[in-house]
Amino acid sequence: MSFPLYAPGDEHRMLRETVRALADEKIAPHAASVDENGEFPWEAYKALVAADLHAVHVPEQYGGAGADALAAVIVIEEVARACASSSLIPAVNKLGTVPLLLSASEDLKQRYLPRVARGEGMFSYALSEPEAGSDAAAMKTRAVRDGDHYVLNGTKMWITNAGVSEFYTVMAVTDPAAGARGISAFVVEKDDEGVSFGAKEKKLGIKGSPTRQVILENVRIPADRMIGEEGTGFKTALATLDHTRITIAAQALGIAQGALDYAIGYVKERKQFGKAIAEFQGLQFMIADMAMKLEAARQLTYAAAAKSEAAMHGERVADLTFFSSAAKCAASDAAMEITTDAVQLLGGYGYTRDYPVERMMRDAKITQIYEGTNQIQRMVMARQLLK
Ligand code: CAA
Repeated sequence: MSFPLYAPGDEHRMLRETVRALADEKIAPHAASVDENGEFPWEAYKALVAADLHAVHVPEQYGGAGADALAAVIVIEEVARACASSSLIPAVNKLGTVPLLLSASEDLKQRYLPRVARGEGMFSYALSEPEAGSDAAAMKTRAVRDGDHYVLNGTKMWITNAGVSEFYTVMAVTDPAAGARGISAFVVEKDDEGVSFGAKEKKLGIKGSPTRQVILENVRIPADRMIGEEGTGFKTALATLDHTRITIAAQALGIAQGALDYAIGYVKERKQFGKAIAEFQGLQFMIADMAMKLEAARQLTYAAAAKSEAAMHGERVADLTFFSSAAKCAASDAAMEITTDAVQLLGGYGYTRDYPVERMMRDAKITQIYEGTNQIQRMVMARQLLK
C-alpha cells in the first residue's frame, strides 16, 4: 500500500522526536531570556549545529544532511514550538540558500553551501527595502558592472538575522530600464568592504533574531558572485519564496503547537468554582477549535512541502505557488488565533511574562507579515486561480 506523498514516514517521526527532545532540553530553557533581552540564541545555534539540524535542506553533495522539504518543515516546527527566534536559524538558512540551489552556478554552490552545512556561517536573504516591501520589484539598490566586478550601492531593510549571518543573497537592479527583468541576485559577504548594518529594529516579537538594515556602500564583488544570469534575480527571488513560505508556515505551526500544548496543560491544573477549568464546556470548545485549525493548517503545509520537494527535483508543479501561499496564509492566521486563544485560556496569567503564551502570541504576529503579508498571499493565490 502506498501512502500519499506528503504523509510523514517513520524517519520523519523519528526526526520529530529527536528535534523535540533537543528543543525541550537545550532551546526552550533560554526562550524567555532570549525574548526578554533581545539576544541572539547562540545556545540554540550551537545545539542545532552539533546535531546537524541548522540547515537540513542542504543536499548531501554540498556536505548537508540532504533532508527533504517535509523534514525541514518538521525541524522548524519543533524548534518554533520551543522558541520562535531560534526557528529562524534553520528557516533563514534555507531562505538565503534556496536562490543558490535554484539558480547558481555549480562553482558558486560549491563555494558557499558546504560552509553553511558545516555551520561556519548563516545565510540571510535581502530583498526588501525601505520603499519596496510588498512591491519588491520597486527596489532601488543598484549593482553596476565594472570590469569583472559589480559595485553595489543601496539599503536593504527588514533583513532577518542581519549582522549575525556571514552570507547574504542580495537582489539589486542591474538594468533600471527593464523593471523586474532588470534585477539580478548576488552573494554578498558580511566582511565585504562597504557592508554595514543598521540598528536592531525594536520589534513586538521574535526579539532574539536581529532584524536590521544591510547597508551597501560601494561594495565591490567579483562578477562570479552573481546568482544565475543577469536579469533573472527577481524570478529567482520569487521562485525561492515558493519554497520558503512553507517554512514560515512551519514556524507558525510550531508556535501555535507550543501555545496549545501549554494551554492544555494549564486548564487541566487551574481550578475555579471547585473544579479544573478544563471541565467547562466553553473552554473545551475553544481547545477543540484551536487543535482543529492547527491540524488543518498542518496538513496543507505538509501537502505544500511535498510539492516543494517535487519541484526541487525538477518536476513541474503548476500549483506550487498557490500551495505555498495558501499554507503560509492559513498557518499564520491559525497561529495568530490559537496563540490569542491560549492567552485567553490562561486569563490574567496569560497576559504576563511569567507564562510563555504572551510571547508566543507576539511571535505569531510576524508570520502574518513577513515573506509577504497575508494580503499579498491572497493576491498571489487569486492570480494563480484566475490566470
Ligand atoms: N516564480 C518565478 N517567477 C515568478 C513568480 C514565481 N512564483 N511569480 C512571478 N514571477 C515572475 C513573473 O513571471 C514575471 O516575469 P516576466 O516579466 O518574465 O513575465 C516577474 O516575476 C514579475 O512578476 P509580476 O509581474 O507578477 O510581479 P509584481 O511586481 O506584480 O509582484 C508580487 C509580484 C507577488 C507582488 C511580489 O512582489 C511579492 O511576492 N511581493 C511580496 C514581497 C515579499 O514576499 N517579501 C518578502 C521579503 S523576505 C522576508 O520577509 C524574509 C524574512 O524576513 C524571513
